[in-house]
Amino acid sequence: MAGHNQEVQGQGPSGRLDGEGDTSFQFVQLDVTGPVATLTIDRPQKLNALNARVLEEVEEAVSRITAAPEVRCAVIHGAGDRAFVAGADIAELAGLEPLEAVEASRRGQKVFLAIERSRKPFVAAIDGFALGGGCELALACHLRVASPRARFGLPEVTLGIIPGYGGTARLPRLVGVGRALELILTGGMIDGQEAHRIGLVNRLVAEEKDVVAEARRLAASIAANAPLAVGLAIDAVTRSAELPLEEAHSVEATLFGLLAGTEDKREGMAAFLEKRTAEFTGR
Ligand code: COA
Repeated sequence: MAGHNQEVQGQGPSGRLDGEGDTSFQFVQLDVTGPVATLTIDRPQKLNALNARVLEEVEEAVSRITAAPEVRCAVIHGAGDRAFVAGADIAELAGLEPLEAVEASRRGQKVFLAIERSRKPFVAAIDGFALGGGCELALACHLRVASPRARFGLPEVTLGIIPGYGGTARLPRLVGVGRALELILTGGMIDGQEAHRIGLVNRLVAEEKDVVAEARRLAASIAANAPLAVGLAIDAVTRSAELPLEEAHSVEATLFGLLAGTEDKREGMAAFLEKRTAEFTGR
């Protein structure tokens, strides 16, 4: 769209989630096809780096996705052909005093936690650079699909800082402390194939042009399942990571029990016994 993401400060986000595009966002596009929303971070001239405005718009888009009853899953990707997201905006970070930097870190952590805690699965489609805050954004998503030319890294130590949007906590949980420390301490990059090998991404596509389509396919396959069960499965898994086994089992049993009262549980089991496809309503 002409002039869509020229870097001017404008009105706050207040558009619609109706699949027709959204002119209230400057750096984000939000589209819905069937049950799958696609959130595009659209600042390609800066490799989709996250400045305060981009982060604010991502937060608003995530909140709309979470609230929209017709959406069951979301895909996040970066505009242009060079980057998913090349990190937090270094031009903004450069001028921060210590307490401002704490706030900036808290702010990014809050937005990414909203993604991780959403009961709708978020799938990151990564092509090109996913560095710093971009890598951390991918980590906050529930699943990751990458192309071979994806480049993952946490280069913060090369700038005199450390990852500040949840990367020091999430990366070791996903790939283990040793591999996480290697990436964080060297500040080096790995490609999509290596990221897939170490479990940083779930799926690797053969060609970059396929990455968003594959992420949408993955999202659509999840969207066909019982939405409340999918949401509570996210709750169980993400909360378990922080709990001792006994408490994690207790959370699991409670959520398992809650689902026994849903219409979708009755429908899912009836459909199996009647040898037909289940029609889930999210109730
Ligand atoms: N913050 C702000 N601007 C960024 C950015 C970031 N994280 N990453 C890229 N950009 C900007 C560049 O400043 C440049 O802007 P300009 O054209 O106005 O000068 C534009 O995006 C293109 O990047 P450029 O560096 O020219 O591309 P490249 O192909 O030479 O290098 C990278 C690509 C990704 C290797 C390089 O941009 C880079 O190292 N970016 C920073 C990555 C990083 O450290 N992220 C963590 C931040 S905490």
